[in-house]
Amino acid sequence: TNRKKISVIGAGFTGATAAFLLAQKELGDVVLVDIPQAENSTKGKALDMAEAAPVLGFDAKVIGTANYEDTKDSDIVIITAGVARKPGMSRDDLVQINQSVMKSVTLEIVKHSPGSTIIVLTNPVDAMTYTVYKESGFPKNRVIGQSGVLDTARFRTFIAEELNLSVKDITGFVLGGHGDSMVPLTRYSYAGGIPLETLIPKERLDEIVARTRTGGGEIVNLLGNGSAYYAPAAALVEMAEAILRDQRRILPSIAYLEGEYGYNGIYLGVPTILGGNGIEKIIELDLTTDEKASLDNSAEAVKNVMNVLS
Ligand code: APR
Repeated sequence: TNRKKISVIGAGFTGATAAFLLAQKELGDVVLVDIPQAENSTKGKALDMAEAAPVLGFDAKVIGTANYEDTKDSDIVIITAGVARKPGMSRDDLVQINQSVMKSVTLEIVKHSPGSTIIVLTNPVDAMTYTVYKESGFPKNRVIGQSGVLDTARFRTFIAEELNLSVKDITGFVLGGHGDSMVPLTRYSYAGGIPLETLIPKERLDEIVARTRTGGGEIVNLLGNGSAYYAPAAALVEMAEAILRDQRRILPSIAYLEGEYGYNGIYLGVPTILGGNGIEKIIELDLTTDEKASLDNSAEAVKNVMNVLS
């Protein structure tokens, strides 16, 4: 067909949810991929989604597979494959296991979809995006990590609740690595164009920032088993849409930095323009001394994880 093609590697909670949203939004035909041991359940999930199409009225094929031949010539490949941290597993063990998953998945992507743009979700996402970049040999604009769209979405949710306003009117900005060291820029955050700092007292805004930083952990604690997937999937789909439809949206992405913000050779969350060529541009904002210090701290955390990569 003439439709766009999107492959989602990893048919777990996040991958399957993203696949369903992509199909519903008719962004293209969707190929859901998992390991051979999970082939039947992957096919089952995809068939179940396809059977929702007549009811929801979307024209998009959804297939499940363990065979990368089926991903041939994808426009976008989303990577959610990997393992979650289990009891007894150190953070470093997790980095190494998921690094090897990234390597094997990337080989297949390069082989079957050499012209694709890759969006990485697997944690620790900054280091995993770096791994995919190095393994793929793709230009840096076509290897992108997701974290800021999700972190910003969490921030916007809490602000909308606080002000009793539509989430649509709240904009936010989060820089830095994913996780507790992220840097929410309240100075660049607005409700209907009105600076948030004029609408919410500083102490309260600081509390909301703190909740945003630990937003992933809040969900993990509530679920008891597993991590967030609805909002992460939605974030992936927003980034994919910006690229597939060449929207040129300003969205935070994990991008490869070569001098921007004073960093070299690392992937870090920064404001970008996302369009048909992936990351069309990295936007460099003026930061206050405090903001730059927080970003340095975040970059340091990312480098510490990168040191564990083999
Ligand atoms: N190739 C393809 N799929 C793989 C591979 C591989 N080499 N290794 C693991 N998988 C699959 C698993 O079989 C599983 O179906 O990846 C899927 C991961 O799904 P879940 O365990 O449900 O994890 P999920 O909650 O979706 O999170 C995935 O996103 O948010 C991050 O930290 C999270 O790194 C994790 C990732």
